[in-house]
Amino acid sequence: MPAYGVIGGQWGDEGKGKVVDYLSQDADVVARFSGGNNAGHTVINEQGEFKLHLVPSGIFSPQTTCVIGNGLVLDLNVLRSEVENLQARGVDISRLQVSDRAHIIMPYHILQDQLEEKARGENALGTTGRGVGPAYVDKTARSGIRVGDLLNKEELHTRLRQVIKEKNVLIQRMYGGEPFSANQILESCSEWTEWLNPFISAVESTVQTALTAGKKILLEGAQGALLDLDHGTYPYVTSSHPTIGGAAIGLGIGYRSLEGVAGVYKAYTTRVGSGPMPTELDETIGESIREKAWEYGTTTGRARRVGWFDGVAARHSALVNEFSAVILTRLDVLDGFDTVKVCVGYRLNGKQINYFPSSASALARCEPIYEEVPGWDQPTAGLTTWEKVPTNARTYVERLQEVIGCPISIISTGPHRHETIQIHQFIPSTRSL
Ligand code: IMP
Repeated sequence: MPAYGVIGGQWGDEGKGKVVDYLSQDADVVARFSGGNNAGHTVINEQGEFKLHLVPSGIFSPQTTCVIGNGLVLDLNVLRSEVENLQARGVDISRLQVSDRAHIIMPYHILQDQLEEKARGENALGTTGRGVGPAYVDKTARSGIRVGDLLNKEELHTRLRQVIKEKNVLIQRMYGGEPFSANQILESCSEWTEWLNPFISAVESTVQTALTAGKKILLEGAQGALLDLDHGTYPYVTSSHPTIGGAAIGLGIGYRSLEGVAGVYKAYTTRVGSGPMPTELDETIGESIREKAWEYGTTTGRARRVGWFDGVAARHSALVNEFSAVILTRLDVLDGFDTVKVCVGYRLNGKQINYFPSSASALARCEPIYEEVPGWDQPTAGLTTWEKVPTNARTYVERLQEVIGCPISIISTGPHRHETIQIHQFIPSTRSL
């Protein structure tokens, strides 16, 4: 019953879209299990360049069933335009299934997200403003509306009218915002139902049937472990579980199905939004990496903060996910540096520590302890074999492997599907990649 997880090992934006597109060539089912359209996955293959927010990045491999699991929160306007855009570009989306248990991001969630951020002032979390947090809050508060609810119009209208009444009180009294018209939202629901109906499915049954038949399931993570509600840099986190634990809940599978869990790490570190980031670089080097690597958010276009590889944070992610493999991306961005640094410990209150503090304020006070390794002149960009990687780049990769404590299986040397070095197979191949 083989399931393979692909999880962000840092603060998101590690290049999971490219990795999942590559690995999907060898998968039968590709499933998203958490988050919403706060995610932005870029895929470049023979079919073109695509920016996906909700549709699994496996949609380009014709043999895959692509599943949006119960653990997601869905802005159905975004899903619809993404699906229509894929269709217009000739991608077959008949293989897409959307869980009837997934929650819907309603227009009031988006406004609530933006009003709450504004009210936080200088303590703002830097959310993507897509309504993801408030939709998860309502899920937990048991006032959320799920995809399956669209199919029972009478019940939906009764519940939604009540929820909108409560939301309008909050929006008007607490934030002085404009109330929503219940009729307008109910109208949107009718439009969504008509369009979404063919995709709605009890996807846990699709996943379980595939697992029982021995099919290969790729679990596509969104965001990264350091943004996990429990294991990340709380409160500067997202409102879901991007760690592998989230896959069990977000799809309805057990741990016995897991054959492997790969952590995807960039060869350096980035973060978008607020919160501590010990290895953040000053503007000179940070800016040069940002421009070279075009480190701007796929979803919001915000400039990403850039830093050296943080080995303490990386090890923390590896432990809370029990990574069995590492997939290293964007190695080519470091081509041409005289030296490259790796953070191997922190100094906190004058003492060296090797753990990742649970408190964001303690983490903010941590000073990185660096090892400096020689850079490499010859490019790694576009390489497809390990033997061709320059010696100093190999030494750097091997050092990262030691620091993370997990073998590196795959290295990405560019954004295109084929710009990939496979050192070990992560998913046993039955098709040639
Ligand atoms: P939210 O998920 O929109 O509530 O945002 C919470 C935090 O997670 C903010 O710092 C966001 O910038 C960050 N975040 C959410 N999704 C992503 C992602 O896909 N990549 C990187 N950062 C993200």
